Amino acid sequence: MGINIALDGPSGAGKSTIARKAAEKMNYIYVDTGALYRSIACYVIGKGIAPDSSEEIIPLLGEIDVKLEYKDGAQQVILNGENVSDKIRTPEISMGASKVSAIPEVREFLFGLQKNIAAENNIIMDGRDIGTVVLPNADVKIFLTASAEERANRRFKELQEKGDSSTYDDVLADIKQRDYNDTHRETAPLKKADDAVEIDSTNLTLDESISEVCRVIEENLKKKQTSDNSDGGEKKQSIKTREIAPVRPITKTHRLSHFRMFWYSILRAIVIGLYHLYYNITFEGTENIPKDGGNIFASNHRSYQDPVFIALPTRVPLSYMAKEELFHQNFAFTLVIKAFGAFPVTRGKGDTEVIDTSIEKLEKGRNLAIFPEGTRSKDGKVGKGKTGVALIAAIAQTKVVPVGINFEGRLKFRKKVVVRFGEPIIPSEIGVTSTNPKELKIIKNTIMDKIKELVHD
Ligand code: DC
Repeated sequence: MGINIALDGPSGAGKSTIARKAAEKMNYIYVDTGALYRSIACYVIGKGIAPDSSEEIIPLLGEIDVKLEYKDGAQQVILNGENVSDKIRTPEISMGASKVSAIPEVREFLFGLQKNIAAENNIIMDGRDIGTVVLPNADVKIFLTASAEERANRRFKELQEKGDSSTYDDVLADIKQRDYNDTHRETAPLKKADDAVEIDSTNLTLDESISEVCRVIEENLKKKQTSDNSDGGEKKQSIKTREIAPVRPITKTHRLSHFRMFWYSILRAIVIGLYHLYYNITFEGTENIPKDGGNIFASNHRSYQDPVFIALPTRVPLSYMAKEELFHQNFAFTLVIKAFGAFPVTRGKGDTEVIDTSIEKLEKGRNLAIFPEGTRSKDGKVGKGKTGVALIAAIAQTKVVPVGINFEGRLKFRKKVVVRFGEPIIPSEIGVTSTNPKELKIIKNTIMDKIKELVHD
């Protein structure tokens, strides 16, 4: 596991030059995540597609292969085999990157790649959401700013040196527009992480900014080391275990205690009885349910009862993600949903904590129910899946049991409900052995296709 420094801030604050120099000094790898968004913009613009046309861009993501390579310490961006490092530095691509980066699926697509690099190396990673979303447990977080006018001034000079004909006013308007886009998008907007150190470089020269960034990094790493040592290494351990490793196959040696299993079997028997009385419920394909724990159950989402429908025929207790709001209703309700394995998810916030918690649950031998669509489907149609399920399955390398929950209209007394369990999907058997975006797409599509097969009209 490497040391991770997160450097965020608005466009043109000098992040890339400063991070590159600081990384050189410290012998770290510099990762410019903006280049990843730029390469996506480059691909779609090259196809004649508007960079804010999410309907046209999302289906294309499967065709895109982005890699970062390092030549003499300099980052190279390889897009479908072509080195596009220079091509992605035009004002058109800058604006395009700002637009494609507002598409949640694009962010999800690039998430695993960024996590992988950070997990394996000592890095300084620059971007907009590194301290808040990509590396919430970074060892040091810095938020680098400068006034819009000063940033425009610097960028204008850079462009002039390259022979670009843009005027200062064009550049300033561009910077302001990108600031607006980056801070107002719904997913992972640009903002300072609560625990980031803010550095304003408006009145600093480049050398002064580099020194200040290096000073903050060194000082904070030292502080962290001292506090880790005084915790007897405990804190360091907890930070390490909360980081997502690229692939971390869970071991199936963890079992829940006999006491837990005993209580759960009694509770389950009572609830099965009640549900059979209340609903006209049948379970199909229960032979596909693994006997042990540590499996993912990926289901379409029809109602708040779904976790119970999945849990009833499964012998091992189930955990599932529930909206954070549900944990603030009242004490008794919170206690009940927690007892039944719910854990909170904050929508729109960085989901890395959720991924870590999910993997911890699987490691503890619990099964995990996931509803990849994120929200309930009112008409029963299966919507688009999010990448979270794929990421968890790829990291944990565990079985994914597809589930189809079927009923017509709304749930009510004596309603016919059919819960179908499909054959488990084993990530390695479909070629998913890493969290590479292409492999995540394969597993996500496989899971969603299987769920659709289990949801009948
Ligand atoms: O840092 P840059 O100017 O090369 O970034 C290009 C665009 O990509 C920027 O307008 C916002 C977006 N971006 C992002 O949304 N998240 C990141 N981590 C990095 C860049």
